[in-house]
Amino acid sequence: MSIEQLKADLLESIAGASDAAAIEQIRVAALGKQGSVSALLKTLGAMSADERQSEGPRIHALREAVTAALAARKDAIEGAALEARLAAETIDLSLPAPDRLRGSVHPISQVMDELAEIFADMGFAVAAGPEIEDDWHNFTALNMPESHPARAMHDTFYFPDTNADGREMLLRTHTSPVQIRAMLDVVKQNPGGAPLRIIAPGRVYRSDSDATHTPMFHQIEGLVIDKGIHLGHLKWTLETFLKAFFEREDIVLRLRPSYFPFTEPSVEVDVGYSLVGGKRVVGGSEGWMEVLGSGMVNRKVIAAGGLDPDEWQGFAFGTGVDRLAMLKYGMDDLRAFFDGDVRWLSHYGFAPLDVPTLSGGVGTPV
Ligand code: DAH
Repeated sequence: MSIEQLKADLLESIAGASDAAAIEQIRVAALGKQGSVSALLKTLGAMSADERQSEGPRIHALREAVTAALAARKDAIEGAALEARLAAETIDLSLPAPDRLRGSVHPISQVMDELAEIFADMGFAVAAGPEIEDDWHNFTALNMPESHPARAMHDTFYFPDTNADGREMLLRTHTSPVQIRAMLDVVKQNPGGAPLRIIAPGRVYRSDSDATHTPMFHQIEGLVIDKGIHLGHLKWTLETFLKAFFEREDIVLRLRPSYFPFTEPSVEVDVGYSLVGGKRVVGGSEGWMEVLGSGMVNRKVIAAGGLDPDEWQGFAFGTGVDRLAMLKYGMDDLRAFFDGDVRWLSHYGFAPLDVPTLSGGVGTPV
């Protein structure tokens, strides 16, 4: 049989192959040890040098053409099989789930809803910002210039490339950049700027992992900008929030002087706890634990937000949502929050229809 004829036959049968097994059969018959193309290759050894020079390239070209056709046909068959599987594998979301698989609302979602409800009652809107941030919003505008030591404390995940404006890109290390975005937004909508009252719950990222740290976790930020705002407003707001959140009247706060680049003065807020059966329960004042960072917004931050710091003042606060959830609902390992274990969720989760409201209570477990 001529090389051309063999090639035509093989390509025809490859084109007609309808599944992976058929492709494999043709491959073995052509390129396997006893295959037709392999047999041709073997004839090269017995040829004269002249013959080999003319036949060699033709036989090698045949082998390459057959190899390429086999690969292309295999790809096409696999692609079609995947398409067919995707089309066939649909999930009917309207089917009732078996009891053992019934989902529930994750405590983090629940706590974020509780926070939104509590702060909405005090006139706060919910704001959001991107999780992929630039270093200006995440650091510089928050009074952490390039050489600021606080930058090093954040264990930041950086991207290899800068954005179109030449800014370094990163996964935001805290929700504080939303302060800047919210101020710039309000200035854009209304040249007078403030007042502004927002909370910003969301995911944040740091390269850190142990029993109390996960590389992704959740924070909530609060920001109030208005005229004549002072520390008293901050203390009242946090007290009102913590009483509503922990659903107890005996919440006692202790404000300690501290340092954050974006606030001046800065305070760390401790909440009093009592010991009940050896466990810390928020309320009373047998001991203190830190729950929030806060302070009066630094003048430089107000200016970075496009507002005049002589005209506008404000306070800000930030804290971990996961920790608030653990304190309120009694979980003790942060990592379990992100394991996706249905048994954990059915224990700690919340009924989907039990939406937190101030009148109905913010957060009754299933
Ligand atoms: N961004 C801080 C952090 O991630 C938390 C924080 C502290 C936020 C003080 C604030 C604040 O708004 O005023 O550790």
